[in-house]
Amino acid sequence: MLDTDGRGAYHSQGNDNLEAIDVGVQIGLAGRIGGLVRRALRSRSSSGQLDLKASYVAFVDDLKARLPNDRAMELAIGDGFDTIGPIEAGLIAHYGLPPDDGYLIDVGCGSGRLAQPLARTHRGRYLGIDLVPALVEHARKITERPDWSFKVIDHIGVPEKDGQADMVCFFSVLTHLLHEQSYWYLEEAKRVLKPGGTVVFSFLEFHEPGHLPIFRATLEGAKARTKAPLNVFIERNAIRVWTSELGMEMVELRDAGDAIVPQGALGQSICVLRKPVG
Ligand SMILES: C[S@@+](CC[C@H](N)C(=O)[O-])C[C@H]1O[C@@H](n2cnc3c(N)ncnc32)[C@H](O)[C@@H]1O
Repeated sequence: MLDTDGRGAYHSQGNDNLEAIDVGVQIGLAGRIGGLVRRALRSRSSSGQLDLKASYVAFVDDLKARLPNDRAMELAIGDGFDTIGPIEAGLIAHYGLPPDDGYLIDVGCGSGRLAQPLARTHRGRYLGIDLVPALVEHARKITERPDWSFKVIDHIGVPEKDGQADMVCFFSVLTHLLHEQSYWYLEEAKRVLKPGGTVVFSFLEFHEPGHLPIFRATLEGAKARTKAPLNVFIERNAIRVWTSELGMEMVELRDAGDAIVPQGALGQSICVLRKPVG
């Protein structure tokens, strides 16, 4: 049985037979094969521990088999359509997406938790991308914005030309990727951003007491050899090094409990980066 903390961190609650990735094995593999991860993830025929897409599709299929479709679509991304979604939309506005003509790329858009509330206020462009076709279709349906674009992807990468977006966001997405994969996505975000554009991502960290239960649950799941999407922590020192390596500017790092917007605290820590203008 799988559950989430309402923000998309997955907890194992005993054995289940989901065909997803094994936390311990994947982390170990990443250490050993380093750069091969990227090539393996690009391969549509890659299977087993490194096939992120297959693991998420299987996870969602399992929920669909057990629950009414709409409920499965909500639980697949951690629920919180009435609470987390409006907070995410508030953060997007707070960090400066121009509401009239701004272009947001929502990586790992899931079933539309952010897109649905954002559609009511954001008149500009939007591209949502995700690995799981059923989630992308649900997001498209509930958002009711024929002018917005939703795309299914097969590997890490943003299907957009260089220098187009005002903001790229990753809410509860880098929390499920290896560090190499997160860094790769940040490279992609920088590529598609306009000069001066903004990256917003949420993350889990050991510094945050509220995140420790997620680590403990993930550890127990690994010991029990349960199959679930990864929960990965990112330390602030790593983020600072990545920011420098990427040639981005750090705007801010915020605690998970900070109520940055009136809608409330996200429950995951927040990092905001800017692509230099020059
Ligand atoms: C916890 S959900 C968060 C969904 C959404 N960002 C939100 O906050 O409502 C994580 C999402 O990331 C997607 N995902 C996982 N790995 C991904 C990857 N490599 N590229 C794009 N999306 C990914 C999953 O399919 C899932 O929809």
